Amino acid sequence: MRSLAVYLAALAFGSAVLAAPKGCAHKVKETVVPPRGWTKAAPAPADHTIELRIGLPQPNFAELERHLYEVSNPFHERYGAHLTKEEVEALIAPHPESIQVVDEWLLSHGLSPEDLSRSPAQDWVKIEVPVRLAEKMLDTEYHVWVHEASGESLVRTTSYSLPENLHEHVDLVQPTTLFSTFKKMRSTARFSKTTPPVPVASAPPISDPTASGGKVDASCNETITITCLKQLYNAVGFTPSSKNGNKIGVTGYLGQFANLADFELFNEDQLPEAANATFNVVSVNGGQNDQDPDDAGDEADLDVQFAFGLTFPTPATFFTTAGSPPFIPDELTTSNSNEPYTEWLDFILEDPNPPQTISTSYADDEQTVPVSFAQRVCNGFAQLGARGVSLTFSSGDGGVGDGDPDPATQECISNDGRNVTRFIPLFPPSCPFVTAVGGTIHIPETAVDFSGGGFSNVFARPAYQDILVPEFLSKLAPGTFEGLFNPNGRAIPDVAAQADLFKVFIGGEAFLIGGTSAASPTFAGIVSLLNGARISSGLPPLGFLNPLIYAIGAIDPSAFNDITVGNNPGCGTQGFNATKGWDAVTGLGTPNFGRLKEIVTLDFIGLELNIGGTSVTL
Ligand SMILES: *[C@@H]1O[C@H](CO)[C@@H](O)[C@H](O)[C@H]1NC(C)=O
Ligand SMILES: *[C@@H]1O[C@H](CO)[C@@H](O)[C@H](O)[C@H]1NC(C)=O
Ligand SMILES: *[C@@H]1O[C@H](CO)[C@@H](O)[C@H](O)[C@H]1NC(C)=O
Ligand SMILES: *[C@@H]1O[C@H](CO)[C@@H](O)[C@H](O)[C@H]1NC(C)=O
Repeated sequence: MRSLAVYLAALAFGSAVLAAPKGCAHKVKETVVPPRGWTKAAPAPADHTIELRIGLPQPNFAELERHLYEVSNPFHERYGAHLTKEEVEALIAPHPESIQVVDEWLLSHGLSPEDLSRSPAQDWVKIEVPVRLAEKMLDTEYHVWVHEASGESLVRTTSYSLPENLHEHVDLVQPTTLFSTFKKMRSTARFSKTTPPVPVASAPPISDPTASGGKVDASCNETITITCLKQLYNAVGFTPSSKNGNKIGVTGYLGQFANLADFELFNEDQLPEAANATFNVVSVNGGQNDQDPDDAGDEADLDVQFAFGLTFPTPATFFTTAGSPPFIPDELTTSNSNEPYTEWLDFILEDPNPPQTISTSYADDEQTVPVSFAQRVCNGFAQLGARGVSLTFSSGDGGVGDGDPDPATQECISNDGRNVTRFIPLFPPSCPFVTAVGGTIHIPETAVDFSGGGFSNVFARPAYQDILVPEFLSKLAPGTFEGLFNPNGRAIPDVAAQADLFKVFIGGEAFLIGGTSAASPTFAGIVSLLNGARISSGLPPLGFLNPLIYAIGAIDPSAFNDITVGNNPGCGTQGFNATKGWDAVTGLGTPNFGRLKEIVTLDFIGLELNIGGTSVTL
């Protein structure tokens, strides 16, 4: 496979001259407007060490993308024929000439191959250098930048250059222009430290035709538990295998620790059969596993309790990824303050056998992530999809506005230098290769008002959205939110799940918390149950979900509970409305596990479908 890739890459590059001319003039590679709220404080100390990540071009990415869409498209004969780790790496590998030219450039600055580390596909080179040297290599000046609201500091620049001959061999270098606002997606506004009310046992169940047995406990309208979600999403009575190789994962960042004692309390309360259940903790890039109850992470506890509770006894892994240490001016320690997604991606792409379903509840405002960086991280998610991993991300807690759950302090101002009012989608949910999960509340389910939704300003609308999303757009009154969003962008979210009033245990106490943070692990739990059912039927896992779920959404209205009430205000507007069919608040709707399981445990190939009265054989 590798030799094929090298051959293809050689074709793409022609017979370029290998030797790099010495002393080539620098040319600007990237310039950004610093996001609002960041101010330049002082020049960065020359001895401060930063870890530079150099992204080499992936000349065959389009080929990887073609494979990804073929193996993820239920109408394609290759559906489910996921690629191996080695096949993906061969398709992602840079051209050997790029590796050579970059190595020569590093060597010309006294950095030898032993000083470097490389990602599995060799598409990233990482190297620790003092600011003084980075400034010389990139013909730039680093400064300490301060974020007024949070007091956080970063060492960054707004523009950097590379020798002209390197431009075609380097996609990007970070940390340079990356000013991110990476955050967990728990809606702080909805965090209540009161013990949840004891439900009135006598209230009759709520009838719900799509729920398991047509009924949901009355208490579920005020307090969401594992039982509520299984009832609501028609998953009662299905127990996955713990031995068929199916696994589920949850990512953790920002010093969020998943507390095992809290997990046990949760199970005791909601899932007695899981009384002694546990989960693996995997450290990424030196991530800690602090089990002090005072350091239990609300986000991490919520995510593991619901994702792993819903899928018990599926083997479960929590990834604890070391985060972005803030820059402390007096400590000349290494500052690895890139987005931690890249660290996690390096790690998981190295794993020959990653979990088939992984949930993440952390994101940035899309506009604070440089396009080149967002593209590379998104390409990393595509690699996981091609290998058969389903990735869910919470869509955001600020409606159409930025990640700030408080509409009063939301900033919806473009970062393109024009300062115009603009809806602010979040990244990674805006990456077309992940499944973005919006939020609902109550029974019958309505859209929850903070549900992140809208349209990417970076990623174009993928083909799998080409039927349902234009249908939604065509129903908007002419001129609706003109100039505030990009109607041709990748639309968010894809699906939804309950996102408020979740009963979780944190630091030994029960809380009710909400946010699309709760929706992503819930949806991932349902996906993992589907993956378990498929694997037990001898079928490959679902992998990248979106082409399949949009196809199901268009063909079978019973597979998702369509949410048609509610909206997602933000940026001083009422946001979009939940409507019949796909909408930019709840996507296709919430899952009906029973129906989805019937669909996905069929072998799609050769299947006869009745589409609009016409019989179609796949
Ligand atoms: C659930 O609570 C919401 C909000 O209070 C209410 O509108 C709805 O009627 C309740 N559902 C049921 C079945 O009582
Ligand atoms: C949990 O472990 C305890 C002590 O080993 C044991 O008595 C109990 O039966 C276990 N419970 C379950 C549900 O496995
Ligand atoms: C945009 O806002 C920033 C920060 O407030 C300001 O420095 C800049 O001058 C503004 N640009 C325009 C074009 O108004
Ligand atoms: C949402 O629905 C309300 C009530 O029907 C309507 O007034 C409003 O214009 C709709 N908003 C959008 C963005 O379509």
